[in-house]
Amino acid sequence: MDHAPTMSGPQPSPRSDAQAPAGSSVAANPGNTLPSDDDKLQVTSHNQYKTPRLVRDLLDPSPLKQFQRWLGDAMNPPREEVQDATGDRVRLEPVHEPEAMTLCTALPNGIPSARVVLLKQVDARGFVFYTNYHSRKSRELDANPYASMAFYWREQSRSVRVVGRAEKVSREESEAYFASRPRGSQIGAWASRQSEEVESEEQVARWVEEVEKQYEGHEVPCPPHWGGWRVVPFEVEFWSGQPSRLHDRFRYTRPEGAEDAEWKIKRLSP
Ligand SMILES: Cc1cc2nc3c(=O)[nH]c(=O)nc-3n(C[C@H](O)[C@H](O)[C@H](O)COP(=O)(O)O)c2cc1C
Repeated sequence: MDHAPTMSGPQPSPRSDAQAPAGSSVAANPGNTLPSDDDKLQVTSHNQYKTPRLVRDLLDPSPLKQFQRWLGDAMNPPREEVQDATGDRVRLEPVHEPEAMTLCTALPNGIPSARVVLLKQVDARGFVFYTNYHSRKSRELDANPYASMAFYWREQSRSVRVVGRAEKVSREESEAYFASRPRGSQIGAWASRQSEEVESEEQVARWVEEVEKQYEGHEVPCPPHWGGWRVVPFEVEFWSGQPSRLHDRFRYTRPEGAEDAEWKIKRLSP
């Protein structure tokens, strides 16, 4: 695989305080410096993806089951080698933190915002993550319940997009999951006013101390402002990176709210 990025455009001017992250395209610059503000930094790596072809006949009729299969491959890859598009035998590598994904929400006026969260469950209904119900993402979902998720499993040249309608999971589900979290995270869920501006880190430390004192010797209950969201999909796309950017893409769709409807599956152009 060709991973080495190359620089083009004006040469960066040296800046002694700047540290280039190891392996970044900046490291290809002999001075190992970051460009000044008016310079261009272009990444022109020509990574060739190598992974088995995605074959229509082998897709599960349910994208949720297909996702579970791919997540299984990401967490625990099969031992056997498989053939890629060029005929080479390749073995799928394990993916680091495959449950991490980019979650996009939007205000009713269409302005989007994205952040990374962890998928905690995928079941017959949808994709569940946990968060603070007063956070920016939750406020956006309260006002506009549509969300999109993007998973990228670099080690396996695979990606999945989910589009759907978000709903809060039941209180029982949130409480059961909260009870399984480490105590530090439980305290943090009470202490954090997620996404609000805060004066200082000392302020956050004081909030943590207050919560620790309050629950000393007791179990920490699930805060009412904390819980899960389930994104119930009406579109799920599977992307498998292929040589020369001629990727395999299949999109599953069903009408919004028609959870018993059969999924339609269409191939998309790379
Ligand atoms: C790898 C990773 C995993 C994260 N997982 C979560 C998560 O599961 N839930 C969460 O609320 N924030 C998680 N965060 C923090 C979010 O990215 C974000 O900072 C936070 O939720 C506030 O987002 P908001 O202001 O858009 O609501 C994670 C961040 C990273 C980098």
